Amino acid sequence: MDFDHTGPKRDEVSRLVYNAGTSELLAEIQHCEVVCANCHRIRTARRAAGLSATADDTARGLPSDNRAVAQLGSAPRLGRGGRRFKSGQPDAMARRSFLLDEQLGEYIAAHVPRPDELEQELIEETSHLEMAGMQIGPEQAAFLRFLVKVSGARRILEIGSFTGYSALAMASALSEDGTLVALDRSEEWTAIARKYWDKAGLADRIDLRIGDGAESLAAMPEEPTFDLAFIDADKPGYPAYLELVVPRLNAGGILVADNTLRHGVVADPSETSESIEAVRRFNDEIFSDDRLEAQLLPLFDGLTVAVKQ
Ligand SMILES: C[S@@+](CC[C@H](N)C(=O)[O-])C[C@H]1O[C@@H](n2cnc3c(N)ncnc32)[C@H](O)[C@@H]1O
Repeated sequence: MDFDHTGPKRDEVSRLVYNAGTSELLAEIQHCEVVCANCHRIRTARRAAGLSATADDTARGLPSDNRAVAQLGSAPRLGRGGRRFKSGQPDAMARRSFLLDEQLGEYIAAHVPRPDELEQELIEETSHLEMAGMQIGPEQAAFLRFLVKVSGARRILEIGSFTGYSALAMASALSEDGTLVALDRSEEWTAIARKYWDKAGLADRIDLRIGDGAESLAAMPEEPTFDLAFIDADKPGYPAYLELVVPRLNAGGILVADNTLRHGVVADPSETSESIEAVRRFNDEIFSDDRLEAQLLPLFDGLTVAVKQ
């Protein structure tokens, strides 16, 4: 397959990361790297896809570019932020934030609630998907569950459900009359989500709406109804999600957004892909928004937590 290194291809590639045709993206990256391992555009796409293998990553025990390229064809999986993902080994506690070294990552993993049997099963099933690395880690699931508990949220909004782990975690902390509205455009991935929500006895608390997240949000009345919103879908959409979510949050409601450090790439001015620029804009806008008080926490791949005034 020919890969055009010029023109707007870089942004197109970034956009593809969250599209259903991601295997095509991986094939393009693989082909290009065989031809031109140092191509800046492809390194950017790899980073946006969470497939970075920089010198730093190699030092942290991630595969070198060549090994990663060799493995791509056999569907290896790197977790969010480029962490090694152990396919077929449901002990996803091995995954850790790019901000932690292995020793500290393991220490923390040993001191947070471990996934229960059903969550382990979901992690295992997801690990066989090509895009398994999009799944949140168990520490993050535990943190989301904790947020629902401490806030007493009864109505939750999620944008980006994938195979359902974050919704499963948050819905499990809801009271019986609580509800979670889940937005995702993938029928295929959310079919897995539905199965696990059902097994957990939470299906009647989760209202899944398939379609573009921004369109689904715009179709909801523009009035405060949610106590907690979790944004975890396409990164170019983050600024629009912010604008659409805030009016729909109750006063005192919490907004949580994942991947707001993008494996540290947000701080690198030479990185200007659409996806990174959108997250930077989101980070700027959330802090200048008078309706919100926000914190950017160095947790996971960067977690922004804000409260509506
Ligand atoms: C990072 S994954 C979400 C991970 C999930 N929160 C979990 O716990 O595993 C991103 C999800 O966003 C969805 N997505 C991407 N772009 C979208 C869009 N424009 N509208 C709705 N969903 C979208 C993808 O289908 C994918 O399932």
